[in-house]
Amino acid sequence: MLIQSMLVSALPARHADAHKGTFGSLAIVGGDTGMVGAVLLSARAALLSGAGRVYAACLSNNTPSVDILHPEIMFRKPTDLTNLAQLDCVVIGPGLGQSQAAIELLEFWLSQDLKMLIDADALNLIAKHPHLTAICKNRCADTVITPHAGEAARLLKITTEDIQQNRTESALTLAHNLHVTCVLKGAKTLVAHDDGNYFINTTGNVGLASGGTGDVLSGIIGSLLAQGLSGLDAAKLGVFVHGAAADALVAKGMGPAGLSASEVAIEARNIINQL
Ligand code: APR
Ligand code: MG
Repeated sequence: MLIQSMLVSALPARHADAHKGTFGSLAIVGGDTGMVGAVLLSARAALLSGAGRVYAACLSNNTPSVDILHPEIMFRKPTDLTNLAQLDCVVIGPGLGQSQAAIELLEFWLSQDLKMLIDADALNLIAKHPHLTAICKNRCADTVITPHAGEAARLLKITTEDIQQNRTESALTLAHNLHVTCVLKGAKTLVAHDDGNYFINTTGNVGLASGGTGDVLSGIIGSLLAQGLSGLDAAKLGVFVHGAAADALVAKGMGPAGLSASEVAIEARNIINQL
C-alpha cells in the first residue's frame, strides 16, 4: 500500500472550499458509428473517478446529445471541441475507428501541448501512419498509452505471442520508442516509463475479460491526469484502482462471471474514496 499512499498524496485535496476547476477538465474523443458506448463508458468512468468536468466527443452522426444516466457529461462535436481552451487532458481512442476524420482528429490532438491518453484505434492509427508516430514521439506533455497485447503487437510490428512472451521488454520498448508511459494491459498489467522503470500491477482478475473494461480504464487514468497527476502516477494509480474495483466486485459475488464494465466504473469511485 506504500506506493498507493504516495500516489494518493498527488491527488488534489478535497477542501471544503474547492470548486470544480480544482479537479480538472477532460474530453473523451472517439465513438464512431456503432462504438459510441466506448466513449460513454470512458466518460462515465472519468466522472466517477473525480474529474471536475467531462466532455464527450463522438465521431458518429448518430450520437446522443446527452447521456441520460449521466447528464453531467457535456457532449460536443469533435470539431467544436478543438476550440476548447480549458481542457487539462484528452483521452483519444475509445471507439474511434480508423476513418479519415479519425486520422485528422488524432493528428490535431497529438499536436497540442496537453496531457493525453491514447487507446484502442488511436494506437492502431499510430501503428499504421509514420507521420502520426513522429508527432507522438515529439510531444512534450505527459502521454500515456494503454495497448492490449494486440495493439502493442501492431505498434511494435511483431506478433501478439511475441508480446505475451516478452511483456516487460515490449512495454519498456514502447515507452522508450514513443516517449510515453506505456500501460500494457492484460493479467498482471505492466506500467513502463520511458526512463526504464516499470511496475507490475497486482490487482484485478479475470472478471475484467469482458467488453468495455479497457474503455473504463482509459477514463479512470484520464481523470487522474486531469486532476494533476503525472503520466506515470496516473497510470500506476489508475490500473491499481481499476483492478481493485474488479476485486471488490468479485468479493461481493458480482463476478468474475458477468462482471460488467459499467459496474467497474461505479466501484472505482468507492476504491478512490477509500484510498
Ligand atoms: N486478468 C486481469 N485483467 C484483465 C484480464 C485478466 N484475465 N483480461 C482483461 N483484463 C483487463 C485488461 O488489463 C484491461 O484493463 O481488462 C481490460 C481490457 O481492456 P481491452 O482489452 O482494451 O478491452 P475493451 O475495453 O473491450 O476494448 C474495447 O478497444 O482495444 C480495443 O480491440 C478493442 O475494440 C476493442 C475496444
Ligand atoms: Mg480496448
